[in-house]
Amino acid sequence: MSRAAEGRVLWFTGLSGAGKSTLASALYRELERRGERVELLDGDAVRENLSKGLGFSKADRDTNVRRIAFVAGLLARHGVTVLVSAISPYRDTRDAVLSELPNASEIFVDAPLSVVTERDVKGLYLRALAGEIPHFTGVSDPYEAPLSPALHLRTDQQSIEACLEQVLALATSEVGRD
Ligand code: PPS
Repeated sequence: MSRAAEGRVLWFTGLSGAGKSTLASALYRELERRGERVELLDGDAVRENLSKGLGFSKADRDTNVRRIAFVAGLLARHGVTVLVSAISPYRDTRDAVLSELPNASEIFVDAPLSVVTERDVKGLYLRALAGEIPHFTGVSDPYEAPLSPALHLRTDQQSIEACLEQVLALATSEVGRD
């Protein structure tokens, strides 16, 4: 199969609460509505199933990210557009897996720590700041931002609709042109 016939992989990375899952699932719904073959590998669902039992050490996060990339690669080989939503905090691991995937684009879903802490959608930052969750990304564990993502979305400055427009344009652009 030529690379152009392979599916695309759009890899959403960013802090918890930055908006990765919101954007990836909105994109998923829109692509599905358009009749595309699309799949979503979301951090929470992956950890419930494929990566059950893994924790948040660097080794476990890297294992998680590599498992996601493995499945994404299988799906993409069969022409599926794959949306990945995972913190994937380590640049070296992200770069390594993205370079091995066909037509892969990195999407940095970015909001400052002060904003995601304020949003605290899942109530995890409050607990992490109180020292109740060790190795919490952005609080007591690193997040290494992408250096040259295909898209850099500031979800604290742009609406979800505006961000979605950009990811949709990327998802439907000609392969090899992003
Ligand atoms: S990683 O780093 O890519 O393996 O993480 P991921 O699989 O995306 O899982 C992130 C979700 O797990 C919850 N959670 C934590 N996040 C960060 N650090 C720690 N210590 C932690 N413990 C639990 C959190 O709800 C993340 O969900 P999102 O969707 O990112 O908010």
